[in-house]
Amino acid sequence: KEISALTKIVILACGTAYHAGLIAKYAIEEWAKISVDVELASEFRYRNPILDKNSLVIAISQSGETMDTLMALRHAKEFGCKVLSICNTNSSTIPRESDAVLYTHAGPEIAVASTKAFLTQVVAAYLIGLAIAQIRGALDEEQVANQYSQLQELPAKIEQILETVEPLRTLTREFTNSSSVLFLGRNVGYPVALEGALKLKELAYMHAEGFAGGELKHGPIALIDKGTPLIAIMPIDPLLNEKMNSNVQEVKARGANVIAIAPEGINVPGATHLIRIPETSPILLPILATIPLQVFAYEMAVTRGND
Ligand code: M6R
Repeated sequence: KEISALTKIVILACGTAYHAGLIAKYAIEEWAKISVDVELASEFRYRNPILDKNSLVIAISQSGETMDTLMALRHAKEFGCKVLSICNTNSSTIPRESDAVLYTHAGPEIAVASTKAFLTQVVAAYLIGLAIAQIRGALDEEQVANQYSQLQELPAKIEQILETVEPLRTLTREFTNSSSVLFLGRNVGYPVALEGALKLKELAYMHAEGFAGGELKHGPIALIDKGTPLIAIMPIDPLLNEKMNSNVQEVKARGANVIAIAPEGINVPGATHLIRIPETSPILLPILATIPLQVFAYEMAVTRGND
């Protein structure tokens, strides 16, 4: 009943969880046809948002204890909205203060970097998106069933990526001394680019930035020099793919060393290196495209002698 009355969704999170929130926006808006805002909890908590009892707040947190996210959640509750959290840590503060929780059950994150937690946050967001789409009748049964079956195929596809990842490890070593690594994505691939850059900063202590493909010409292209490593997350949608391929040509013309993460069947003529991932539905791409980026950050950290 409450979901049928919803007017908007606001997602609150920090860091990697915020990137999961950005992916959630693409998925929920596409499937459930409801407006979704994603906000950095550290910004939200200090401003006057427009919310009411028909807004749903989704707080995403691995630990369930992040102070900015917790304070943002409390701030949101002052407006009378319901809070649903996506959390990895049982009985932590954020789920305890939420009206409902979806636990991700990823197991503890041993190191600081949120990796498996990130992937499960994205999956949880997909499940929420499909559930809302179903309740609001925005997708028919067949469309929902199709997305579920594609979701169920993801674990096997991830195994496949992990089995074929060796060339990526070798390739990573070529870039050990690069001063910066750039990541480019479009649509759901854009938050993946942001996450790839964050993981590299956090693990390898390297300068890294993620950009949306369409923004390249609005400034970031100036950063491309001969040999600059640029990781391009290739979209599945034909129009976006064409746009991304022209971005690849632009950066290549400036001398970038382009590593393309591309689903099977997607050609990237300008790429210097091609990392193949299996095909999936366009919205589910982040789950598969993120794996090589996590491996890249890990390998870079190890090669650079980090703990
Ligand atoms: O525990 P949380 O998910 O609330 O933490 C939020 C961020 O601090 C966290 O995602 C951070 O960005 C990670 N260490 C990134 O790997």
